[in-house]
Amino acid sequence: MEKEAQPPGTVKGTTLCAAGPHTPSMRTTGTTVTEGCRAVRKGFRDQQRLLIVAVVAVLLCCTAGRGDGPMRGGGTVSAGSRGVLGVVSTAADGVEPLRTGLVEPAIALGWQVAVTLTPNAGQWLRANGELDRLEAVTGLPVRDTPRLPTEARPHPVANCYVVAPASANHVAKPATGIADNQALTQVSEALGTIGVPVVVFPQVNAAHVRHPAWDRHIAALRKADVEVIHGPDVWPLHEPREGPAVRQLPWTAITESIQHVTARAARHPL
Ligand SMILES: Cc1cc2nc3c(=O)[nH]c(=O)nc-3n(C[C@H](O)[C@H](O)[C@H](O)COP(=O)(O)O)c2cc1C
Repeated sequence: MEKEAQPPGTVKGTTLCAAGPHTPSMRTTGTTVTEGCRAVRKGFRDQQRLLIVAVVAVLLCCTAGRGDGPMRGGGTVSAGSRGVLGVVSTAADGVEPLRTGLVEPAIALGWQVAVTLTPNAGQWLRANGELDRLEAVTGLPVRDTPRLPTEARPHPVANCYVVAPASANHVAKPATGIADNQALTQVSEALGTIGVPVVVFPQVNAAHVRHPAWDRHIAALRKADVEVIHGPDVWPLHEPREGPAVRQLPWTAITESIQHVTARAARHPL
């Protein structure tokens, strides 16, 4: 039997295209089969593009930020190359530029940074919008309250802690083992954790240092191997209300101390 002549790209009664078969009824609106086929192909291409965009968006969500700890929003992030730096800050003068002075430079050095604030510092930085910005740059929630026992730990485990600025209150309490808020809980535990270096910058005035218990507190911290950034070369003391109205904290000295203590810990592993 002779085969019926068919236009190229068709079999009897059906048009073939990569998008699938179409019946000749597509001609009824004045659209040719080939045009219909093109339209279907274009639709598929658009869908493919949408799918690729969606896959890329999901991948970006999953890999954004640093560290392998849980992120707000449920994604996970990969660790900084130097490890996790626990930054603890308190309600002391100069805490406001914490992000630009310490957190962003530490991230640039390869740290994943997890910030914890005392409740007072949390109030200060929430009020001026810095808490949100800290969360945005670190990709982790800023902690200023303890978690419920049923909640997952919001931060990855820190390899090193820095307490800056540390109020006189936040020098005295960990030195005596007090841990009555989340920031103190982390610092007090770190003081007794082998292999986790701790750097403390006390943001204090001359009156704080003349307190009869001050020397004991500093000695207790040093006994726990804490690197205390303290002394006239790095932080000259002023009487209360007599110092400069605005004084930048010694962020560079603090960052260098972090690098120094972690390099030392790496040279003398447990
Ligand atoms: C505007 C302001 C600035 C302060 N600056 C300091 C400071 O530089 N150093 C300090 O030890 N205390 C400072 N204090 C007092 C502390 O905020 C206060 O002792 C507080 O209880 C510390 O709480 P925290 O250690 O839990 O953050 C300041 C208080 C205020 C209101």
